[in-house]
Amino acid sequence: MPSRTLTGITPSGTLHVGNYFGAMRPAIAAQDHGECYYFIADYHSLTSVFDPVVRREHTLGIALDWLACGLDPAKSVFWRQSDVPEVCELTWLLGTLTPMGLLGRAHSYKDKTAKGIAPNFGLFAYPVLMAADILLYDTTVVPVGKDQKQHLEITRDIAIKFNQTYGETFVVPEPSIAEDVAVIPGLDGQKMSKSYDNTLPIFGAEKVMKKNIMSIVMDSRTREAPKEDAEQLSAVQLLKFFAPAEVYTDIVGQLKAGGYGYGDLKKALFEQYWMFFAEARERRAELADNLAHVHAVLADGAEKARAVASDVLARARLVCGLR
Ligand code: ADP
Ligand code: TRP
Repeated sequence: MPSRTLTGITPSGTLHVGNYFGAMRPAIAAQDHGECYYFIADYHSLTSVFDPVVRREHTLGIALDWLACGLDPAKSVFWRQSDVPEVCELTWLLGTLTPMGLLGRAHSYKDKTAKGIAPNFGLFAYPVLMAADILLYDTTVVPVGKDQKQHLEITRDIAIKFNQTYGETFVVPEPSIAEDVAVIPGLDGQKMSKSYDNTLPIFGAEKVMKKNIMSIVMDSRTREAPKEDAEQLSAVQLLKFFAPAEVYTDIVGQLKAGGYGYGDLKKALFEQYWMFFAEARERRAELADNLAHVHAVLADGAEKARAVASDVLARARLVCGLR
């Protein structure tokens, strides 16, 4: 079986560097090895975004972000989830074999309800829709950040149960989690996440990003003090992702020696971050001026995705005794 990589990002906010290193960069690198299927998970956004204008804005924004960061439509199939509604039918087939207990144990569901979000069917069933996203395309590998690991395990459990019940139908996928970028810290040191308001967007406005980086809270050590624990500082952990190895090593050396302060560190962090995405930023501006091209890419992707999806769904319907 040739490898087929698939991943999705929910259009529930602006993409940040945690999304980039955790999910997008590995997905983009995979384009040179086997088939790639990438989509914008707009059905998933229905569980948290209730404004249609905002949903459309985020969906278009994420399309621009992916293309600017290197998703190549000549190599990958790229589409909007809701353009392939077959996924909803598969969600139903899978849902009838999904134990309630499996969904009740999902961390993301427990975290969200613990935060006071009123549970609804969509939030509870979210991992089943995610399983359908993956199984509908005979996916072999799913690059995601560590927080999605449990959802992948649920997908595998559902696929195995379906295959046992109705005979071999689905490919059982493997997660791909790069350990070195498993959890990108946010500006406050916790996991970077849209939900924690601690993100560094990939394409933020220059002044705002500079201000956000300069406002990272540090400890009270003076510029002169040697900082032996330099590598543990979250600003340094972030710097490591953006800076060339020799720049990173030099800055860590200076922090340890003393005479290099947190203002210097934040200034360097901003510069490295800004340079890292410079080319992508230019490409994004060009794409934003040519939205017809972006819509054409998504329409073409939807057609290709739908061709695979309808075959796999037909296979699943047949084994269940539906015609
Ligand atoms: P958020 O937590 O900001 O809502 P999503 O849940 O939409 O992010 O995540 C989209 C993808 O980006 C997933 O594959 C997720 O694992 C990855 N990701 C999100 N935040 C991080 C992070 N801080 N470090 C590594 N990967 C991340
Ligand atoms: N649940 C994922 C997230 O919140 C997004 C997603 C939806 C996804 N369907 C997927 C990721 C299928 C990988 C494969 O980040």
